Amino acid sequence: MDDNRMVCECYNIRVKDIKKAIEEGNDTFEKMERTMRLGVLCGACVTDAKKVIETLKGNTD
Ligand code: FES
Repeated sequence: MDDNRMVCECYNIRVKDIKKAIEEGNDTFEKMERTMRLGVLCGACVTDAKKVIETLKGNTD
C-alpha cells in the first residue's frame, strides 16, 4: 500500500499516519477517531479507512 495515499482528506490523514497510529497502539478505527479525528467531519472516508486499518493490521509492510 502506498504510504502517501490519502485516506481522510478532511484531516490530511495518509496511509503512513494510519501505520504510525497502529504502531503507537491506536489500532482500531474508534481509537483513531478519538486521537486523530479520523472520519469525524464528513464521514466519506470511514469505509475506506476501516479497510485500510484491517489491511495494515494483517500486513504491515
Ligand atoms: S474525508 Fe475523512 S472525515 Fe472527511
